[in-house]
Amino acid sequence: MRNSERLSGRRFDHDYGVTTHAVLFLTDLEPEAVGDAGAHATHYEAVPVSDFRALLSHVPPETIASSTFVDVGAGMGRAMLLASEYPFRKVCGIEVSPSLYEIARENLAEARVRSRRCDDLRLVNADARLWKFPPGDLVVFLFNPFDALALRATLASILHRHQPGATWILYHTPVERAELEALATVTLVAQERFGIVVRVP
Ligand SMILES: C[S@@+](CC[C@H](N)C(=O)[O-])C[C@H]1O[C@@H](n2cnc3c(N)ncnc32)[C@H](O)[C@@H]1O
Repeated sequence: MRNSERLSGRRFDHDYGVTTHAVLFLTDLEPEAVGDAGAHATHYEAVPVSDFRALLSHVPPETIASSTFVDVGAGMGRAMLLASEYPFRKVCGIEVSPSLYEIARENLAEARVRSRRCDDLRLVNADARLWKFPPGDLVVFLFNPFDALALRATLASILHRHQPGATWILYHTPVERAELEALATVTLVAQERFGIVVRVP
């Protein structure tokens, strides 16, 4: 993590009155509670604020207005709080770690969000590979939550959901981007130094 990212992360926590700035390994936190997901997970780290906004800037306003935002691996809730400043229909977060989920729950309840545009926030303590993604248009956010196998399983749940709409995927630190590029109907919309934005179909 660069020094400027560390500083802006601390500023975010100070301004919003939350705790999101940390680097933690799931297997050190609660190996029993996360089960097999721990073997596929990377680590917890909150998304740099400016990177999140830059990735979302590639999604057209009309798509944001018609979509549910889903943070796959919501951690302590920073991306959900940032997403709530855009007029999404709903903002969801899935977090497999019970302790991170509890911290995110507190952060969402207590945060000082000055320019909230979406009030419908839902956080679940679940494994994203097994979660039932909502129907309709989706903007999915991935901050390098897990390995290729777990990403493949999660993409299958996303793409085969009931009554799917347009699906936009914002992938920060896209180490497993080959899994996305292997999809027959994927379009690369944007590429930043730190991540990609794709649309399916
Ligand atoms: C790099 S952090 C991203 C945190 C958050 N999205 C943000 O940007 O601030 C990745 C998160 O994915 C979670 N995770 C890993 N595997 C998961 C799974 N199978 N289901 C749900 N969450 C998972 C981890 O616990 C961790 O909190």
